[in-house]
Amino acid sequence: MGSYRDEFDRSVDDREDFWLDAAQAVDWVTPPTTALDDSNPPIYRWFPDAELNTSVNALDRHIVAGHGARTALIWDSAMTGQQRHITYAELLDEVARFAGVLLAQGVTKGDRVVIYLPMIPEAAVAMLACARIGAVHSVVFGGFAAKELAARIDDAEPVAIVTASGGLEPGRTVDYLPIVAAAIDLAASSPTVVVKDRPEVSGSAADVDGWLDWDTEIAKATPAEPVPVAATDPLYILYTSGTTGRPKGVVRDNGGHAVALTWSMANIYDIHPGDTWWTASDVGWVVGHSYIVYAPLFVGATSVMYEGKPVGTPDAGAFWRVIADHGVNALFTAPTAIRAIRKVDPEAVELSKYDTSSLRTLFAAGERLDPDTFEWAGRVLGVPVVDHWWQTETGWAIVANLRGLEPMPIKAGSPTVPVPGYRVGVLDAAGNRVGPDQEGTIVIDLPLPPGTLAGLWRDEKRFRTSYLDAFPGYYLTGDSGYIDADGYVVVLGRSDDVINVAGHRLSTGSIEAVVATHPAVAECAVIGIHDELKGQRPSGYVVLKAGVEIEPDTLRSELVAKVRDEIGAVATFRDVTVVAALPKTRSGKILRKTMRQIADNEDYAVPSTIEDAAVLDALAEQLRG
Ligand code: COA
Ligand code: AMP
Repeated sequence: MGSYRDEFDRSVDDREDFWLDAAQAVDWVTPPTTALDDSNPPIYRWFPDAELNTSVNALDRHIVAGHGARTALIWDSAMTGQQRHITYAELLDEVARFAGVLLAQGVTKGDRVVIYLPMIPEAAVAMLACARIGAVHSVVFGGFAAKELAARIDDAEPVAIVTASGGLEPGRTVDYLPIVAAAIDLAASSPTVVVKDRPEVSGSAADVDGWLDWDTEIAKATPAEPVPVAATDPLYILYTSGTTGRPKGVVRDNGGHAVALTWSMANIYDIHPGDTWWTASDVGWVVGHSYIVYAPLFVGATSVMYEGKPVGTPDAGAFWRVIADHGVNALFTAPTAIRAIRKVDPEAVELSKYDTSSLRTLFAAGERLDPDTFEWAGRVLGVPVVDHWWQTETGWAIVANLRGLEPMPIKAGSPTVPVPGYRVGVLDAAGNRVGPDQEGTIVIDLPLPPGTLAGLWRDEKRFRTSYLDAFPGYYLTGDSGYIDADGYVVVLGRSDDVINVAGHRLSTGSIEAVVATHPAVAECAVIGIHDELKGQRPSGYVVLKAGVEIEPDTLRSELVAKVRDEIGAVATFRDVTVVAALPKTRSGKILRKTMRQIADNEDYAVPSTIEDAAVLDALAEQLRG
């Protein structure tokens, strides 16, 4: 087992060797002779002269090595009570056939395919099928409404959309087809639509002229051979919330992604061929891309795909049941899920009903792992609870306690140390590095390691302004925090208008944009306030137009419905407060941070730039009574 310090130093001092070594774990069509292309800073490319196919690395290579009968995917649906075990050979067959379906619809290398699917195996099949023919997938989370889907269709300009009749949420079904139809109506293009019919949800491809049925098409498809792509070619676009309402299309390449994720499974997660790994997230998020689909398959592990919730499907023992049923060795989930279980079952009575002895580690990410949740999970499960910090942009962990290297002590409240390849620093507002324990903006020295974002889809300008221009030579993470004297990183939260609700990343700007269009609203601010269960929740403050009279309850329900309709259920927007005025700086900027401090009952200082201190006083009086 290597030492963390040695591995980290090697990743910095011998960067080329380090990543070319790591690249040997990947099957290449043309192996790399160079790791980093640094000819065009601050834009960098990894493995510029190499070629590969991502689906071959996830599937074919394991079959060639004699592991075709090993389970690749276990689908466990708490929503339907079904379980499916899919071997590597079966998964390859389905992927190759679906790749054939896409080819038959004119999808070729470089074309985009939007995937709007619930947590069913077809989601992984569709992603890998795109990878097989060099098409670029863009998965959209099922909790987004038609308008958000349309915005992504407009940006990615897909040749095809792969969807299903719907998703299953506790107590209701989510009909996808009307959402897809409405999104296509709103969008400028009209892609081919392929529908996986789920018997549990009404609606099918037959509802719309020209839409294709997944099962019919796959039955007659010719399996497609893998297409070699450049390591630097895009594998996927994943839209994520930025500070404005317009989502950012994070682009991931093929080669760096395969190298980094393969390295991460052994070194961060200590997961190896034949292990059973479960990421309880959704394929619509980056965690689902990297650790439900790609990474576990790259290393020949078995990946559990779970359709259900931590509680209520049917009870707070759901996660423990899945671990016991499938012999899960490591679970990766968001702290919110653990808090949800703890809230319902604080004494972990449900846990005692299951044999979870296969579990070696619990990994948490997506939001800060608060020390209480950390302590509770460690105590009831009796395994190490490992926090790690990352983002959609990086695609894999920036800071972690690396379980595949010599063990390092875990400190509650810190995700531990920078992962090899990431030189993490903390800067003050002037761009100077601050000392230990001093809070500031967390940055990463360029170049970022392989697997991190190659850019934003067709928007290099926004890539530069969002991440590279603020502090030349560094990548701006958008998080603030500090590094302690032992080199442990503490992430305190976002320093921009992005909020984290139940591990889901949302833009307050996009919610504000919807609220502002209500006819009674003169102006508004949406901020993320503390929530016991979900970490944060969006909270809206609204100034009414002069002369408008509307009951607060009516306004609230209209705004809640509007946000749900235009962004989606995932926005979980429920709080609306009518205020007389919003506190602003003299240049007109709303003092959102101070508003949040007031709402969260924290100490706050009246900013020197304030336009009218009386507005702030009035707000504090109203919110704190
Ligand atoms: N499709 C459609 N709707 C969805 C959806 C999906 N894939 N996922 C969630 N929603 C809906 C929910 O049904 C809910 O709707 P409602 O307002 O009608 O109840 C709404 O979006 C909000 O969902 P959520 O924030 O997830 O709240 P919840 O009450 O349904 O569940 C938790 C709470 C804690 C159980 C849940 O948030 C959870 O499991 N969190 C873990 C998060 C996670 O895995 N994050 C990934 C990053 S690692
Ligand atoms: P996403 O892009 O959805 O993965 O969200 C990324 C953001 O989630 C980060 O910028 C952080 O603000 C937050 N985040 C993710 N993991 C952690 C963690 N382990 N600790 C603290 N914050 C986290």
